[in-house]
Amino acid sequence: MGKSFCVAIDGPSSSGKSTVAKSVARELGFFHIDSGAIYRALAWWMERQTEAIPNLDCFSYHIVEKGGKLFHYVGNIDVSSEIRSPYISQRSSEIAVLSAVRKKVNELQREIAKGRSVVIEGRDIGSVVFPHADVKIFLTADLSERARRRYEEFKQKGGVHTLEEVQKDLLERDTRDRSREDAPLVQCPDAYVVDTTEMTVGEVIEKIVTLTKRRKASSFWRFLVGEKRSGASAVYKIIVFCSLVLYKIFFRLEIKGIENYPEGALIIAPNHSSFLDPPAIGIACPNEVHCLAKSYLFENKLIGSILPKINTHPVSGDAGDLGVLKRISEFLLKGKQVIIFPEGTRSETNEVAPLKRGVALLASMAKCRVIPVGIKGAYEAWPKNKKFPRLFCKITVIFGKPLDWKDYEKKYSNKKQMQSEFTKDLEEAIKALSSCDKS
Ligand code: DC
Repeated sequence: MGKSFCVAIDGPSSSGKSTVAKSVARELGFFHIDSGAIYRALAWWMERQTEAIPNLDCFSYHIVEKGGKLFHYVGNIDVSSEIRSPYISQRSSEIAVLSAVRKKVNELQREIAKGRSVVIEGRDIGSVVFPHADVKIFLTADLSERARRRYEEFKQKGGVHTLEEVQKDLLERDTRDRSREDAPLVQCPDAYVVDTTEMTVGEVIEKIVTLTKRRKASSFWRFLVGEKRSGASAVYKIIVFCSLVLYKIFFRLEIKGIENYPEGALIIAPNHSSFLDPPAIGIACPNEVHCLAKSYLFENKLIGSILPKINTHPVSGDAGDLGVLKRISEFLLKGKQVIIFPEGTRSETNEVAPLKRGVALLASMAKCRVIPVGIKGAYEAWPKNKKFPRLFCKITVIFGKPLDWKDYEKKYSNKKQMQSEFTKDLEEAIKALSSCDKS
């Protein structure tokens, strides 16, 4: 779906993450991020600071790709070799227990990964840095096998450490990485565990590449056929599928932020400036959704027979009317998902109009979540004052982070204040999503 893809590989030291991640990235054509190298580069930099607590904002790190190889730079110094020393191995593990350090490295990782497909390796990638990674792998191997691998590596580089020393050092790092308070090395419940003790590197790479390709294909296929819409009627599924194909062809529909989309009772709240918005949002939602339409629309025979089949329910009055509110809250209380345009009606311009209170009122009645959505490009394709749409414009639907009514109940004591703060935050979120960069 044009969406960037994230493969997170976590695991203890010397489980083979770097070798594997590098090759998997090469085979898939993804960018490789070695998060350990960032901790190492930061440790290298901290060693050179005179202050007891250096200002981490001054740490400048970037990766340079030369001849298919990645080089790690601190400022304009290439530290790629120096950061692999045993001393920096120890120091990086020590500084990695500090929350400020983790925060800084997490920011850098997210920045580097932004907008590209990545294979990223570390200790907390699937659990903390990218909890919505498309593929999560936990790579592991017996301590003695890991020590043997690291020892061989050192020997080849002319290192003087004995196997026992290497194993002791690994055990120390394992213990520290697993027992630190902030983001310890853990095996995510949704990670796929690969024990490499008795596998060759080639076998491990093949396994992860195959898993990723399957997941990539299945996520596209699952989306296309709407696996999550399995409870919906066949007609609903066919109409959504056909609309998706049409929107893809005629409006190059792109869907972003799908990882923010929650299950369960939900109000989907997009901006509204075009007739093209309701189908676009219906298609973009991965689950079966319901929506409302003015009852006069049902008077047309053809439209009136299609709308109920795509879960569109007639209402008279606007979303502030008590009858309408009651109807929607019944859906929500049954755990259904409902699209509501919180501006009330299509806006005359491309600007988000001030939101009505209806959505906050509903969220308070059903104590549910509301997902803000930005629809971009629909106004350009078909504004309110035009009779026909302009084809081949690009429409993007972007899902934001859901707002949970329960958080507002905890934060404010007065219901009126809860509703007004909720509406304010929702409006800000929709404005930001509908005006954010398309890239
Ligand atoms: O993977 P590595 O050995 O290059 O990592 C060096 C140290 O950095 C490691 O001992 C622990 C820390 N680290 C971490 O805490 N979290 C990560 N995501 C990656 C590395």
